[in-house]
Amino acid sequence: MAALFLLLLHLLLHVSHAAINPGDLSVLQDLRRSLTNADALLGWGDPNAADPCAQWPHISCDRAGRVNNIDLKNAGLAGTLPSTFAALDALQDLSLQNNNLSGDLPSFRGMASLRHAFLNNNSFRSIPADFFSGLTSLLVISLDQNPLNVSSGGWTIPADVAAAQQLQSLSLNGCNLTGAIPDFLGAMNSLQELKLAYNALSGPIPSTFNASGLQTLWLNNQHGVPKLSGTLDLIATMPNLEQAWLHGNDFSGPIPDSIADCKRLSDLCLNSNQLVGLVPPALESMAGLKSVQLDNNNLLGPVPAIKAPKYTYSQNGFCADKPGVACSPQVMALLHFLAEVDYPKRLVASWSGNNSCVDWLGISCVAGNVTMLNLPEYGLNGTISDSLGNLSELSDINLIGNNLTGHVPDSLTSLRLLQKLDLSGNDLTGPLPTFSPSVKVNVTGNLNFNGTAPGSAPSKDTPGSSSSRAPTLPGQGVLPENKKKRSAVVLATTIPVAVSVVALASVCAVLIFRKKRGSVPPNAASVVVHPHENSDPDNLVKIVMVDNDGNGSSTQGNTLSGSSSRASDVHMIDTGNFVIAVQVLRGATKNFTQDNVLGRGGFGVVYKGELHDGTMIAVKRMEAAVISNKALDEFQAEIAILTKVRHRNLVSILGYSIEGNERLLVYEYMSNGALSKHLFQWKQFELEPLSWKKRLNIALDVARGMEYLHNLAHQCYIHRDLKSANILLGDDFRAKVSDFGLVKHAPDGNFSVATRLAGTFGYLAPEYAVTGKITTKADVFSFGVVLMELITGMTAIDESRLEEETRYLASWFCQIRKDEDRLRAAIDPTLDQSDETFESISVIAELAGHCTSREPTQRPDMGHAVNVLVPMVEKWKPVNDETEDYMGIDLHQPLLQMVKGWQDAEASMTDGSILSLEDSKGSIPARPAGFAESFTSADGR
Ligand SMILES: *[C@@H]1O[C@H](CO)[C@@H](O)[C@H](O)[C@H]1NC(C)=O
Ligand SMILES: *[C@@H]1O[C@H](CO)[C@@H](O)[C@H](O)[C@H]1NC(C)=O
Ligand SMILES: *[C@@H]1O[C@H](CO)[C@@H](O)[C@H](O)[C@H]1NC(C)=O
Ligand SMILES: *[C@@H]1O[C@H](CO)[C@@H](O)[C@H](O)[C@H]1NC(C)=O
Ligand SMILES: *[C@@H]1O[C@H](CO)[C@@H](O)[C@H](O)[C@H]1NC(C)=O
Repeated sequence: MAALFLLLLHLLLHVSHAAINPGDLSVLQDLRRSLTNADALLGWGDPNAADPCAQWPHISCDRAGRVNNIDLKNAGLAGTLPSTFAALDALQDLSLQNNNLSGDLPSFRGMASLRHAFLNNNSFRSIPADFFSGLTSLLVISLDQNPLNVSSGGWTIPADVAAAQQLQSLSLNGCNLTGAIPDFLGAMNSLQELKLAYNALSGPIPSTFNASGLQTLWLNNQHGVPKLSGTLDLIATMPNLEQAWLHGNDFSGPIPDSIADCKRLSDLCLNSNQLVGLVPPALESMAGLKSVQLDNNNLLGPVPAIKAPKYTYSQNGFCADKPGVACSPQVMALLHFLAEVDYPKRLVASWSGNNSCVDWLGISCVAGNVTMLNLPEYGLNGTISDSLGNLSELSDINLIGNNLTGHVPDSLTSLRLLQKLDLSGNDLTGPLPTFSPSVKVNVTGNLNFNGTAPGSAPSKDTPGSSSSRAPTLPGQGVLPENKKKRSAVVLATTIPVAVSVVALASVCAVLIFRKKRGSVPPNAASVVVHPHENSDPDNLVKIVMVDNDGNGSSTQGNTLSGSSSRASDVHMIDTGNFVIAVQVLRGATKNFTQDNVLGRGGFGVVYKGELHDGTMIAVKRMEAAVISNKALDEFQAEIAILTKVRHRNLVSILGYSIEGNERLLVYEYMSNGALSKHLFQWKQFELEPLSWKKRLNIALDVARGMEYLHNLAHQCYIHRDLKSANILLGDDFRAKVSDFGLVKHAPDGNFSVATRLAGTFGYLAPEYAVTGKITTKADVFSFGVVLMELITGMTAIDESRLEEETRYLASWFCQIRKDEDRLRAAIDPTLDQSDETFESISVIAELAGHCTSREPTQRPDMGHAVNVLVPMVEKWKPVNDETEDYMGIDLHQPLLQMVKGWQDAEASMTDGSILSLEDSKGSIPARPAGFAESFTSADGR
């Protein structure tokens, strides 16, 4: 029996090799010959003897002896690909990125199994027209950074791409594309990521992109003349858009108001375009923005108070230097006028700043007040804004010979000083409001004007017309004689137009980089984490009260055992495009080998994995034996939450798999593991104890993540299981909250929700433990306990502690924290106790006490904790500390990584370092510091 089992296992794990398919063998031999340094680098052994399926590292085959995987990334390979390459038509995954391959790309025509193809960062010099023909299985392809068809003037994306109906990621940055963005791309419904930066594309975004489901759109930095142009109206129709990189083009017109409908938007780079006018105030209320770059356009009016950690807006025509500062009412009145006539270029260039009396084309002033609007024959289209009624000193309006339509606004009748209103030669329609007889109104030559004679129609003081708004000051009713003379037309001389000089990757990218070792973190789509460390001192009893029939029955310890197996019960989850094939995850985790186990927790084992493109991931695999209803619920809850919630201090999901009995969740790999390991087990793992500064940063990260969870865009989520084992650290020791299996959606944050009791003893708020009713304040309590752990280095609960009163950290800490000597004695001995540190610790101790107040209403909300922590972290910012570079920049900044990738590439070229391949059995060592993996994207990489 056991032998049979082993045999089966053997069959499963080590696919027995049929002899390699002769056709595939011949292609591989061609490949070997066409690579100039394969023998030196790849360990492929004797060219004649070997069966590549069995013996060539980096080549894998299926059971039929067909090559299905070639993984030669980052290998320093030179040479070309053989023209016979497409005969490998069972090939599914191809990784050739970051080599020095050159020559002509062979056609991939007919490679119907190909799913992932990474050819980026090589020197391929041409691509054949039929390259994409018949690539019907393609999911992800990157050709970034290849000088394709340079000598023949570039290339365009062939229509064959449309046959790849499942294509999710098309990445063609920096590969000499020319012409327009093809229409068919907008109709590819599975496409989530379209990256066409650094090419020579021109023309508008095609109308087929209306309502496109794209999440990532990079069109930035086109280097041709002209560049991409047209308005951004289509961008605002994309409901899933997270990253819109449009900088370094000729996009024009105003930023559409409806941009706020892109609810998931996190990066909006619009710098260095020709955008004009007022920025929609709706941007100010968007949650989740991380980077907004508006520099170097012709934006006018107030600098909007946008809430984004990275926000730039210089080199525009704004009226103020700082966000949220209002413009003068005159300026606003004129800008609203300008908006309604569609921001004509000439006026936009001149109407900037906050003084409409200095050099504004067509505006005349007396004593700082606008008295004349003189814009004859300016080709103005659109309507006359009723905001003109707010220019209370206006005496002369000349709009002769434009193309204005609509009605004459009632608000103009409130202009007490108005003498002349010449609207002749437009296309206005009546009726005309009633003006005082002293006003000379001329509407001749408006062919469709139906209420002919001036004054013939009754004035309608409609609600919303600005007649009621126009301020009239006492004593202004009578027009003094001399005012008639005071108007002098001030014609502005040439105004320097803000020229959109594109400083290459500049504005969006000129920033500090995080110093990173190891692989670069994946970007937006591929965020996140693995739950508990294997090593977690889960002597903390995790409780989940299972309640199927309304009676709370509590299970302790392993809550899973004994649950009935309902593996076949497929719970439907609608989460969009996060599905990843189990097969891919098997490959990434070396078939879930024991060596890759990172930890066990929340209903499964967590494995480390490496995707084809080198991205490190963590895969949580639900154990088949324990797939209970409840486990499935948690699985679903986690997916549902993670796909909705995105914040740099919350782990988010890369994908999941549901196939047969498999339930897998994929997160970003957090290299430093759980906070608990660093606090309680640093000795055991031979780690450096965390400095107080790091602890403060972690506290702030957690507070920010929780604040977001609690207040997420009108929704409120309660984590219910915040603890140091669920706080994970990246390689920079910045923290993210993980494990969302117990998160509860609270329809209204202030309202308590009755739930099954869940969470972990030691962190549970008393009222929740007693009543099972939960509010966000229960998380605040848990946060307070985590702060105590950070201060003391003691676990929340430890039954083995000698003094009974110290066993429950929360209650003990509250007793001692006010007594300075006892507090000093309780501080983690690894922390220095300089006056400065102690002062800082005291503040956090007080915050911890506040957060763990007995009465939930007395606990602060997470926003308060953030406010307390921000200045502490800042105060504690020693000079030259690298980790501080991280501030304000997050993992969702692939351009940074991209530029970094280029820098590294350059550095590695100049120092000529060659990769050592001593360990040629295993995977090829990655290049130092995340080379161009960072350039290709995220999930697909
Ligand atoms: C090709 O791309 C490179 C790098 O993006 C650029 O410098 C070059 O001008 C491009 N050439 C053509 C013909 O587009
Ligand atoms: C008004 O519209 C016409 C036709 O659409 C256009 O050619 C013209 O440039 C517009 N005028 C201004 C000032 O934008
Ligand atoms: C504008 O007019 C008001 C009232 O007529 C006057 O008090 C003020 O001094 C003028 N100038 C400015 C700059 O507001
Ligand atoms: C005036 O506006 C109409 C309608 O918008 C447009 O068709 C026409 O081209 C415009 N004419 C000029 C001279 O701008
Ligand atoms: C009204 O405007 C037309 C065309 O601009 C002009 O010929 C006419 O003299 C004006 N009428 C008055 C009373 O100013």
